[in-house]
Amino acid sequence: MSNEVAVHEAEVKGGHGLATPHIYWHPGKVTAVHRRRYFGQEPATIWLTGLSGAGKSTLAYELEHLLLERGHPSFVLDGDNVRHRLNRDLGFSAHDRRENIRRTAEVARLMNEAGLFVVTAFISPLCADRQAAREIIGPDRFVEAHVSTSMTVCEARDPKGLYARARAGEIANFTGVSAPYEPPEHPDITVDTSRMSIEEATRALYDHLARRLG
Ligand code: ADX
Repeated sequence: MSNEVAVHEAEVKGGHGLATPHIYWHPGKVTAVHRRRYFGQEPATIWLTGLSGAGKSTLAYELEHLLLERGHPSFVLDGDNVRHRLNRDLGFSAHDRRENIRRTAEVARLMNEAGLFVVTAFISPLCADRQAAREIIGPDRFVEAHVSTSMTVCEARDPKGLYARARAGEIANFTGVSAPYEPPEHPDITVDTSRMSIEEATRALYDHLARRLG
Protein backbone atom coordinates (compact mmCIF):
# COMPACT_ATOMS: atom_id res chain seq x y z
CA MET A 1 0.00 0.00 0.00
CA SER A 2 1.43 3.39 -0.93
CA ASN A 3 1.89 5.94 1.83
CA GLU A 4 -0.71 8.17 0.20
CA VAL A 5 -3.33 5.40 0.24
CA ALA A 6 -2.51 4.48 3.85
CA VAL A 7 -2.91 8.09 5.00
CA HIS A 8 -6.13 8.40 2.99
CA GLU A 9 -7.57 5.23 4.55
CA ALA A 10 -6.73 6.41 8.05
CA GLU A 11 -8.53 9.67 7.29
CA VAL A 12 -11.59 7.87 5.88
CA LYS A 13 -11.92 5.92 9.11
CA GLY A 14 -11.94 9.22 11.01
CA GLY A 15 -10.45 10.07 14.37
CA HIS A 16 -6.83 9.98 13.11
CA GLY A 17 -5.23 12.63 15.35
CA LEU A 18 -8.25 14.87 14.88
CA ALA A 19 -9.77 17.18 17.47
CA THR A 20 -13.10 15.44 16.86
CA PRO A 21 -13.70 11.97 15.43
CA HIS A 22 -16.97 13.06 13.75
CA ILE A 23 -15.55 14.10 10.42
CA TYR A 24 -15.09 11.93 7.35
CA TRP A 25 -12.93 12.12 4.27
CA HIS A 26 -14.93 12.79 1.10
CA PRO A 27 -13.17 11.31 -1.91
CA GLY A 28 -13.15 13.43 -5.08
CA LYS A 29 -14.02 12.48 -8.63
CA VAL A 30 -10.90 13.95 -10.26
CA THR A 31 -7.95 11.65 -9.59
CA ALA A 32 -4.23 12.34 -9.36
CA VAL A 33 -3.89 10.59 -12.72
CA HIS A 34 -6.42 12.98 -14.29
CA ARG A 35 -4.51 15.94 -12.92
CA ARG A 36 -1.14 14.63 -14.12
CA ARG A 37 -2.57 14.25 -17.61
CA TYR A 38 -4.21 17.68 -17.51
CA PHE A 39 -1.12 19.56 -16.32
CA GLY A 40 1.45 17.29 -17.98
CA GLN A 41 3.63 17.15 -14.89
CA GLU A 42 4.41 15.18 -11.77
CA PRO A 43 3.93 17.76 -9.01
CA ALA A 44 6.57 18.39 -6.37
CA THR A 45 7.56 20.93 -3.76
CA ILE A 46 11.03 22.31 -4.09
CA TRP A 47 11.87 23.45 -0.59
CA LEU A 48 14.52 26.19 -0.52
CA THR A 49 16.27 26.55 2.83
CA GLY A 50 19.06 28.96 3.74
CA LEU A 51 19.94 32.09 5.68
CA SER A 52 18.16 35.42 5.32
CA GLY A 53 19.76 37.17 2.33
CA ALA A 54 20.94 33.90 0.74
CA GLY A 55 18.79 34.50 -2.36
CA LYS A 56 15.90 32.10 -1.70
CA SER A 57 13.06 34.45 -2.67
CA THR A 58 14.85 35.70 -5.79
CA LEU A 59 15.51 32.14 -6.92
CA ALA A 60 12.00 30.98 -6.05
CA TYR A 61 10.36 33.68 -8.18
CA GLU A 62 12.82 33.14 -11.05
CA LEU A 63 12.15 29.40 -10.97
CA GLU A 64 8.37 29.93 -10.88
CA HIS A 65 8.68 32.21 -13.89
CA LEU A 66 10.85 29.75 -15.82
CA LEU A 67 8.47 26.87 -15.04
CA LEU A 68 5.44 28.89 -16.16
CA GLU A 69 7.19 30.05 -19.33
CA ARG A 70 7.80 26.37 -20.15
CA GLY A 71 4.13 25.55 -19.54
CA HIS A 72 4.36 24.19 -16.00
CA PRO A 73 1.80 25.62 -13.54
CA SER A 74 3.69 26.63 -10.40
CA PHE A 75 3.35 28.79 -7.33
CA VAL A 76 5.75 30.33 -4.80
CA LEU A 77 5.17 30.25 -1.05
CA ASP A 78 7.54 32.87 0.34
CA GLY A 79 8.26 33.22 4.07
CA ASP A 80 7.94 37.01 4.26
CA ASN A 81 4.77 36.95 2.13
CA VAL A 82 3.05 34.05 3.90
CA ARG A 83 3.81 35.83 7.18
CA HIS A 84 1.79 38.83 5.88
CA ARG A 85 -1.45 36.77 5.75
CA LEU A 86 -1.88 33.12 6.77
CA ASN A 87 0.95 33.21 9.32
CA ARG A 88 0.58 36.79 10.48
CA ASP A 89 0.04 35.55 14.04
CA LEU A 90 3.49 33.93 14.18
CA GLY A 91 6.83 35.33 15.34
CA PHE A 92 10.33 33.83 15.41
CA SER A 93 10.42 31.67 18.53
CA ALA A 94 11.31 28.02 17.86
CA HIS A 95 7.63 27.15 18.46
CA ASP A 96 6.34 29.74 15.98
CA ARG A 97 8.88 28.80 13.32
CA ARG A 98 7.82 25.16 13.63
CA GLU A 99 4.18 26.17 13.17
CA ASN A 100 5.16 28.44 10.23
CA ILE A 101 6.79 25.47 8.50
CA ARG A 102 4.00 23.04 9.39
CA ARG A 103 1.23 25.25 7.96
CA THR A 104 3.29 26.03 4.88
CA ALA A 105 3.95 22.33 4.28
CA GLU A 106 0.21 21.62 4.54
CA VAL A 107 -0.53 24.35 1.98
CA ALA A 108 2.21 23.01 -0.30
CA ARG A 109 0.70 19.54 0.01
CA LEU A 110 -2.71 20.86 -1.05
CA MET A 111 -1.18 22.68 -4.00
CA ASN A 112 0.68 19.54 -5.05
CA GLU A 113 -2.57 17.59 -4.79
CA ALA A 114 -4.15 20.23 -7.04
CA GLY A 115 -1.42 19.42 -9.59
CA LEU A 116 0.88 22.43 -9.18
CA PHE A 117 4.60 22.71 -8.64
CA VAL A 118 5.36 24.57 -5.44
CA VAL A 119 8.54 26.48 -4.69
CA THR A 120 8.95 27.46 -1.04
CA ALA A 121 11.37 30.10 0.26
CA PHE A 122 11.66 29.83 4.04
CA ILE A 123 14.76 29.95 6.23
CA SER A 124 13.37 26.77 7.87
CA PRO A 125 16.47 26.61 10.09
CA LEU A 126 15.94 23.31 11.89
CA CYS A 127 16.47 19.83 10.41
CA ALA A 128 13.58 18.47 12.50
CA ASP A 129 11.12 21.05 11.11
CA ARG A 130 12.21 20.33 7.51
CA GLN A 131 11.85 16.62 8.22
CA ALA A 132 8.30 17.29 9.43
CA ALA A 133 7.64 19.19 6.17
CA ARG A 134 9.01 16.23 4.21
CA GLU A 135 6.60 13.91 6.02
CA ILE A 136 3.59 16.19 5.42
CA ILE A 137 4.35 16.70 1.72
CA GLY A 138 5.49 13.12 1.19
CA PRO A 139 9.07 12.00 0.52
CA ASP A 140 8.38 11.44 -3.20
CA ARG A 141 7.31 15.04 -3.67
CA PHE A 142 9.66 16.83 -1.30
CA VAL A 143 12.85 18.15 -2.93
CA GLU A 144 15.24 19.80 -0.47
CA ALA A 145 17.33 22.57 -1.99
CA HIS A 146 20.02 24.22 0.13
CA VAL A 147 20.73 27.83 -0.82
CA SER A 148 24.13 27.65 0.82
CA THR A 149 25.31 31.26 0.44
CA SER A 150 27.59 31.85 3.44
CA MET A 151 26.75 33.87 6.52
CA THR A 152 29.59 36.30 5.65
CA VAL A 153 28.10 37.00 2.23
CA CYS A 154 24.51 37.23 3.55
CA GLU A 155 25.56 39.65 6.26
CA ALA A 156 27.59 41.77 3.83
CA ARG A 157 24.57 41.95 1.49
CA ASP A 158 22.12 42.67 4.32
CA PRO A 159 19.42 43.67 1.80
CA LYS A 160 16.86 44.62 4.48
CA GLY A 161 19.34 45.97 7.06
CA LEU A 162 18.22 43.21 9.46
CA TYR A 163 21.68 41.79 10.28
CA ALA A 164 22.84 45.23 11.40
CA ARG A 165 19.75 45.62 13.57
CA ALA A 166 20.17 42.11 15.00
CA ARG A 167 23.85 42.83 15.83
CA ALA A 168 22.72 46.04 17.53
CA GLY A 169 20.39 43.94 19.71
CA GLU A 170 17.24 45.39 18.13
CA ILE A 171 15.94 42.06 16.74
CA ALA A 172 15.84 38.97 18.98
CA ASN A 173 16.26 35.38 17.78
CA PHE A 174 17.78 36.42 14.46
CA THR A 175 18.94 33.41 12.44
CA GLY A 176 22.73 33.23 12.24
CA VAL A 177 23.19 35.90 14.91
CA SER A 178 21.18 34.85 17.95
CA ALA A 179 19.26 31.82 16.64
CA PRO A 180 20.62 28.64 15.03
CA TYR A 181 20.73 27.53 11.40
CA GLU A 182 21.24 23.81 10.79
CA PRO A 183 22.29 23.17 7.18
CA PRO A 184 20.76 20.09 5.55
CA GLU A 185 23.00 17.03 5.82
CA HIS A 186 21.90 15.45 2.54
CA PRO A 187 20.15 18.08 0.40
CA ASP A 188 18.87 16.96 -3.01
CA ILE A 189 20.59 19.97 -4.56
CA THR A 190 22.80 22.85 -3.37
CA VAL A 191 23.15 26.27 -4.96
CA ASP A 192 25.29 29.17 -3.74
CA THR A 193 24.31 32.57 -5.16
CA SER A 194 27.76 34.02 -4.42
CA ARG A 195 29.40 31.46 -6.75
CA MET A 196 26.68 31.10 -9.40
CA SER A 197 24.66 33.73 -11.20
CA ILE A 198 20.92 33.79 -10.50
CA GLU A 199 20.39 32.43 -14.05
CA GLU A 200 22.78 29.50 -13.45
CA ALA A 201 21.29 28.66 -10.07
CA THR A 202 17.70 28.87 -11.41
CA ARG A 203 18.66 26.64 -14.31
CA ALA A 204 20.25 24.08 -11.95
CA LEU A 205 17.05 23.95 -9.89
CA TYR A 206 14.94 23.64 -13.04
CA ASP A 207 17.12 20.86 -14.44
CA HIS A 208 16.82 18.99 -11.16
CA LEU A 209 13.04 18.90 -11.69
CA ALA A 210 13.32 17.82 -15.33
CA ARG A 211 12.18 14.21 -14.84
CA ARG A 212 8.90 15.47 -13.39
CA LEU A 213 8.15 17.78 -16.28
CA GLY A 214 6.25 15.29 -18.42
S1 ADX B 1 11.53 30.80 9.33
O1 ADX B 1 12.73 30.70 10.19
O2 ADX B 1 10.29 30.74 10.12
O3 ADX B 1 11.53 29.80 8.24
P1 ADX B 1 10.83 32.80 7.39
O4 ADX B 1 11.52 32.35 6.16
O5 ADX B 1 9.35 32.53 7.50
O6 ADX B 1 11.61 32.24 8.67
O7 ADX B 1 11.00 34.37 7.54
C1 ADX B 1 12.30 34.91 7.45
C2 ADX B 1 12.25 36.40 7.07
O8 ADX B 1 11.68 37.16 8.12
C3 ADX B 1 13.66 36.92 6.88
O9 ADX B 1 14.02 36.93 5.52
C4 ADX B 1 13.60 38.34 7.41
O10 ADX B 1 13.22 39.22 6.38
C5 ADX B 1 12.46 38.31 8.40
N1 ADX B 1 12.84 38.24 9.83
C6 ADX B 1 12.35 39.06 10.78
N2 ADX B 1 12.80 38.70 11.99
C7 ADX B 1 13.60 37.61 11.82
C8 ADX B 1 14.35 36.78 12.71
N3 ADX B 1 14.36 36.98 14.02
N4 ADX B 1 15.09 35.76 12.18
C9 ADX B 1 15.08 35.55 10.85
N5 ADX B 1 14.38 36.30 9.96
C10 ADX B 1 13.63 37.31 10.43
